[in-house]
Amino acid sequence: EAAQPLKGVRVLITSGPTHEPIDPVRYIANRSSGKQGHAIAAAAARAGAEVTLVSGPVNVLDPTGVKIVKVESARDMLAAVEQALPVDVAIFAAAVADWRVANAGEQKIKKKAGQSTPELALVENPDILSTIAHRTQQRPPLVIGFAAETENVVANAKDKLARKGCDWILANDVSPATGIMGGDRNTIQLVTGAGVEAWPTQSKEEVAAMLIDRIAAARNGAKK
Ligand code: C5P
Repeated sequence: EAAQPLKGVRVLITSGPTHEPIDPVRYIANRSSGKQGHAIAAAAARAGAEVTLVSGPVNVLDPTGVKIVKVESARDMLAAVEQALPVDVAIFAAAVADWRVANAGEQKIKKKAGQSTPELALVENPDILSTIAHRTQQRPPLVIGFAAETENVVANAKDKLARKGCDWILANDVSPATGIMGGDRNTIQLVTGAGVEAWPTQSKEEVAAMLIDRIAAARNGAKK
């Protein structure tokens, strides 16, 4: 058995995209694959953590040794996250839709000859990371977010850290040329209150392992 630096530590992870219904058969989604969040869940489980993975719709395999809660919409994801509290560490790797369709249809929207095209009105979704990080009760002692940026990566991540009230942000550049979104590799800058750490470009599994190392170190530091 490998060392288990997170033995018994409760870790909550969100992963994947959300699907926001337009009607019962249509939805709005994004290109998140769930690879990074699922890799973190697997690495946390291997490190001995008690893992709850709240996942949007993805095509990656369920990691072994974790409790998986499958959801579709942002609102369902928030409810599942709140249900999973209390935890020691919460990692928000999901690409949650910022908006959902107002008044999503109960029935399939029909195309009828001569009628105008439907117009979708959007309303804002809850921000799950910010909601959990700003809780006064059962706020996890370590709240970690991701920041997918296409420019000013570190500056935007620092701003996000403050605004969302989280402890760490893993910032990455998701410009199409990087191939990160949906790809197998990731280039992270870890932004914390203490500063910025640039990680090498590595596989999403290696990113997960490095994050687990940092979490274990932070928890050990906090204990001493
Ligand atoms: O605001 P932005 O989407 O760039 O922030 C990214 C971080 O916030 C990620 O950790 C993501 O999982 C989280 N987030 C969330 N709920 C939202 C939007 C983002 O938890 N509605």
